[in-house]
Amino acid sequence: MSAIGFVNGTFMPLEQATVSVEDRGYQFGDGVYEVIRTYRGVPFQVEAHLARLARSAQAIGLSMPYPNREWHDLVAEGLKRAGFAEGKVYIQLTRGVAPREQAFPDESRPTVVMTVRELQPRPQAVCDAGVEAITLDDIRWGRCDIKSVNLLPNVLARQRAKEAGVFEAIFVLDGVVTEGSISNVLVVRHGIVATAPEGARILSGVTRSLVLDLARKERLPVEERAVSLEELRHADEVFLCGTTVEVLPVVRIDGRVVGTGKPGPLTGRLSERFKQAVT
Ligand code: PDD
Repeated sequence: MSAIGFVNGTFMPLEQATVSVEDRGYQFGDGVYEVIRTYRGVPFQVEAHLARLARSAQAIGLSMPYPNREWHDLVAEGLKRAGFAEGKVYIQLTRGVAPREQAFPDESRPTVVMTVRELQPRPQAVCDAGVEAITLDDIRWGRCDIKSVNLLPNVLARQRAKEAGVFEAIFVLDGVVTEGSISNVLVVRHGIVATAPEGARILSGVTRSLVLDLARKERLPVEERAVSLEELRHADEVFLCGTTVEVLPVVRIDGRVVGTGKPGPLTGRLSERFKQAVT
């Protein structure tokens, strides 16, 4: 079992996977990506991730290098070669190698990278206890729906969270909660599940969609609308969701207790439904 790399059509041990220093992904962050994980060894929601990759690519003027059925085979092949019980597949598409000039090169071939690493499932105790978060100004650009490799604000936010000894940084733009640095944020108040609507200010999370579907199936009222920082602070329950985060209760924000200070009942219900859905 070992981590696997894939560069422009060739699989190799991850430590041998390299790209040029003139790659526009490296020079400008001129690229897009996806993160897919497995459950019981099977990659989860590959189609949804590929659909978003295609949307992100199109938004920056790149085309998908492979049709979806080929992507499925490549992901499966990478996972097979790596041989981990659970894997995390990272796919990155950049505008390729060209002399450094901001405008698109006349000719370039996208660089296609995939890595497959071992995924360590989050201990149940963490979900049972819930996590803490801080809020930070959302200083990101106006197209957060594009899953761009330009992640500097997210990197800085997550570092702030780490230094604060908490799990996640929740972005707030003009008094409105957008999302976390690696997750979407959902708020429960008076039995209503509310979260930022899809649009340019958030990443349209694959997990978010699934969780909202599950909530609707549970006949919980769901509101996709602007959620204010005030509402976040006075929520009965808050939870995060994302590919690596799954459904994760937040029990403290900026040092203040959320609800009872314990993961709430609706979060617990959705977390259970989520577990059933992924296996
Ligand atoms: N990020 N919002 C942001 C800013 C994210 O980076 C992510 C996931 C999500 C959740 O999306 P999804 O449910 O489709 O994973 C929301 C990945 C995992 C990452 O960058 O590592």
